[in-house]
Amino acid sequence: MTKQAVIFGTGSLAEVIDFYLAHDSPYRVAAFTATGDFVGQPQFLGRPLVAFEEVETRFPPDTYEMFVAVGYRHLNRLREQYCSAARTKGYKLLTYLSSKATHWGDTMLGDNVFIFEDNTIQPFVKIGNGAILWSGNHIGHHSSIGPSCFISSHVVVSGHCTVGDRCFIGVNATITDSVVVGNDNIIGPGALIQKSTSDGEVHVAERAKKLPKDSSKFLR
Ligand SMILES: CC(C)(COP(=O)(O)OP(=O)(O)OC[C@H]1O[C@@H](n2cnc3c(N)ncnc32)[C@H](O)[C@@H]1OP(=O)(O)O)[C@@H](O)C(=O)NCCC(=O)NCCS
Repeated sequence: MTKQAVIFGTGSLAEVIDFYLAHDSPYRVAAFTATGDFVGQPQFLGRPLVAFEEVETRFPPDTYEMFVAVGYRHLNRLREQYCSAARTKGYKLLTYLSSKATHWGDTMLGDNVFIFEDNTIQPFVKIGNGAILWSGNHIGHHSSIGPSCFISSHVVVSGHCTVGDRCFIGVNATITDSVVVGNDNIIGPGALIQKSTSDGEVHVAERAKKLPKDSSKFLR
């Protein structure tokens, strides 16, 4: 059965979320909503764009569910705040799990969760409200991803890990087994985390080294 949804957001993330819902979910996006300056036009992607302050008058929560398509700005706090505001208005926040993700059907998913293709989610995993898992991550057994996290792509979270609230984990980062990542951490692309971290920490990996010769000198 088709379900109706409103997306909060007018950026490329909103466009991507709309695409995935249209191609791989029972949801059809009827409208978009945003705050302040982001409501410059009456339409977005050919559908109504309405101010968040009055969205419930035209697209009421008894008929429409909502997804807050806000990325990791302000370390995921904006998405967290708007999810909270949407719940206060009475909206159910929809959750999407790609049909192209691998899982065992037992994953505990919060609301406003979005899980893209090629995620492998092992048994006994919990994923908190508002978490976004971009494509291709491995989430090991008995691990939990905290509310409002943003997990980029090709991240490995090994078994028995706990990732705290609002963490950003960059592409190709690795968290080894049983590690606890504190709240509000930034784990940069390619970082290897083998020991537990405290709240608010930032970990980055070494960048690639630039050789002092140009590419014409190689692969001869
Ligand atoms: C760490 C990070 C989150 C900081 O983001 P930001 O606030 O936008 O800041 P910048 O990327 O401009 O980096 C600011 C400074 O942090 C430091 N820094 C960032 N990454 C670093 C690294 N790997 N090694 C050393 N210093 C680093 C540098 O001082 C840098 O300044 P510089 O670029 O002039 O050297 C960002 O660098 C990053 O790694 N983003 C994730 C990329 C990713 O995985 N994207 C996928 C999204 S789907």
